[in-house]
Formats: sequence, C-alpha cells, structure tokens
Amino acid sequence: MVKLHDLHFKPFISEDKIQEVVQRMVNEIAHDLGDEVPVFIGILNGSFMFVSDFVKKYPKACEVTFIKLASYEGLKSTDDIQRLIGLTQDLTGRTVVILEDIIDSGKTLAEVHRIFKNENVKELKIATLFYKPEAYKKDFKLHYVGIEIPNKFIVGYGLDYDGLGRDLPAIYQLKTTQHMTNFVLFGPPGAGKGTQAEFLKEKYSLVHISTGDVFRFNIKNETALGMLAKSYMDKGELVPDQVTIDMLNAEVEKNADAKGFIFDGFPRTNAQAEALDKLMDEKDSQINAMIALEVDDEVLVQRLLERGKTSGRADDADESIIRNRIKEYYKKTAILKDYYSAQDKYYGVDGVGSIEDITARLSNVIDSL
Ligand code: IMP
Ligand code: MG
Repeated sequence: MVKLHDLHFKPFISEDKIQEVVQRMVNEIAHDLGDEVPVFIGILNGSFMFVSDFVKKYPKACEVTFIKLASYEGLKSTDDIQRLIGLTQDLTGRTVVILEDIIDSGKTLAEVHRIFKNENVKELKIATLFYKPEAYKKDFKLHYVGIEIPNKFIVGYGLDYDGLGRDLPAIYQLKTTQHMTNFVLFGPPGAGKGTQAEFLKEKYSLVHISTGDVFRFNIKNETALGMLAKSYMDKGELVPDQVTIDMLNAEVEKNADAKGFIFDGFPRTNAQAEALDKLMDEKDSQINAMIALEVDDEVLVQRLLERGKTSGRADDADESIIRNRIKEYYKKTAILKDYYSAQDKYYGVDGVGSIEDITARLSNVIDSL
C-alpha cells in the first residue's frame, strides 16, 4: 500500500502489465501509420512516463514533443477555457498522435481538439493509456485505448494525487475506506479462544492473526523479519516490539482488502497496545475492541485437566502448572484491560456454555462495534 497525503492506495496495475499494454499500443499504431513519420505529442504532466516508454518501443522514425494545458489565471467564468503551452512547431500536413495518460471526463480532450482545429494537420489521432468509460462524457473518437479502468481514482506512472505519486512505476488505486472490524481477542488458557476465533473469522470474513503463528511462519520461511526475531530468541532475549509490529504490519498489508482483523496473542503490554494503535491508524483504521472470554478458574482447571488426558500436552496435565498459567494470564491482561477500558473498548464475554452460545454472545458484541 502507498500513502499520499491523507489517502491510501493499493496496488492495481503492475509495471509488467503496463509495459505489455504500451507495447501493444506501439504495435497497433506503428502498423496503422505505415511509413508516415508521426509527431507524437504528450500532454503534460501526466503523460511523461507513458510517452517515454512508448517512443522507446516505437520501431520506426518519429518525432516527439510535449504540450501542456494550463488554466487562465484571474479570469472568472472562463475556467473551462485552457491555454496551451509548448506548441512551437508547424504541424501543417503532419500526422499527429496525441499521447494521453488518462481520459476521464474528456474535458482535456475537448480542449485538445479545439486547439488543433487551426493547425491544419493531416490527421489527428488520439491514444490514451488509461480510459474510464463510465466517466467519459464526450464523443470524440478514441483511436487507441490501452486499458479501460473503472471510474476510480488512480496514481502512479505519471499520474498524481495533489502533486504526489507521479514517480511510482506502477499504478495504484484509491482505497475507499470501508468499515473494518478489528478486535483483540483475549481469553485464559482453556477458554476456547481458538475455537471461537475460527467461527468468528468465517462469520465476519475477518483475518485471524495469531502472533504465535506469525512468528512460526516467519521463522520457518526464513523471512528477514523471522531471522531477525530468531537472532534474539537464540540469545534468550525478548524479541523487540518493533520486530513483532513489523511482522504484524506485513500480515495486515498482505490482507489489505480484509473486512477486519482478529488479533490473538498481541498486544501483551501497554507499549505494544500503543504500537498496534499506531499501526492501525496508519491504515486509516483502528482497534474497535478488546474482547475477553471470561471463564471461572475452577472451570478452566477442570477443562484443561480433561484436555490433558487426551492431548498429551504436559502443561495441561499438572494442576499447579495450569493454575499458574491462569494466574499469569490475569496478571498480563489486567494491564490491557485498563488500557482498553480507558478508551471504552473493553468487552468481557461469559465464556461458559455451549460453543454456539458463546459465539452468539461474541457476535452481539461484534455487531455493536
Ligand atoms: P479529463 O479531462 O476529465 O478527461 O481528465 C483528464 C485529466 O484529469 C488527466 O490528465 C489527469 O490530470 C486527471 N485525472 C483524471 N483521472 C485521474 C486519476 O484517476 N488519477 C489522476 N489523475 C486523473
Ligand atoms: Mg493528462
């Protein structure tokens, strides 16, 4: 994802795809123009990358120049009329191909036609790399169209958002902020957090990010962040929060279109909770809730001892270990409960009952977010 000023953009058309389309346009135009030496005219600023790639690929002799349309300044009620900068060449009798980066409403194109009416060119052809058919309001013929795109704002490859983004080699599309449901799921060992996360993720199309899984994945796949994390673990040191946050960031980025995230196993400290808030803020989003499954200690102990009989997990077999894990859990979550309570985001949910009942209780909270 790319952030320009206040907006977020997601990858839309790759560099390779653009080059493929430019090549196709070159082939069509070169074929149609035969032995004519055309004058390619790029409309600045947006078309500079397109024109550059286009003429590099053009297999025959050609001329290339640029013009720029600028609004008259200081004149009222004429802001529709534009002034032309840069056309110094005599185009009488020449075949001119306008190279446009994008045609949207067609207003710019109308100006181009108005300006070229008096140039006595032999032929005026219009080629545009991107075209938004839903936005186009004119009926000038578009002789060559690279890619038709939906009526959404794009940046990159010459196109800008308020001055930024022209330098990006690929095309990005404006990410229209959809409502996301992001929450941190808590529950003492044996509360059924994993089971519930599975149901909720399906029901709400959320992405479940378990820090434990993320760590294991990165270390197993020897990603740069995984190796970095491992280097601390090997020394017996805690992995710095920033490394964990960077891994979570990568997970969030991978799922840029998700309806929301369930964070599991993170944050564990105030500093981590703050870092997570900052991360979500950068994504124009936020943590909506901390949802904690509440289960009485004695019930947990019984559940875990039962599980220990079949799972063979050593830490599920010993009652004093179990009690200690539960105690640790409350010690850690107490801090976070305070952190999220202060923002009115803490929700305790009764975790005793059937799986369906508990899912229904959790759903009530999520639906209210
Ligand atoms: P038109 O005059 O409405 O056809 O729009 C053409 C001009 O609007 C382009 O030259 C761009 O400067 C700008 N434009 C239209 N759509 C986009 C877009 O999605 N991203 C960036 N600029 C755009
Ligand atoms: Mg333009």
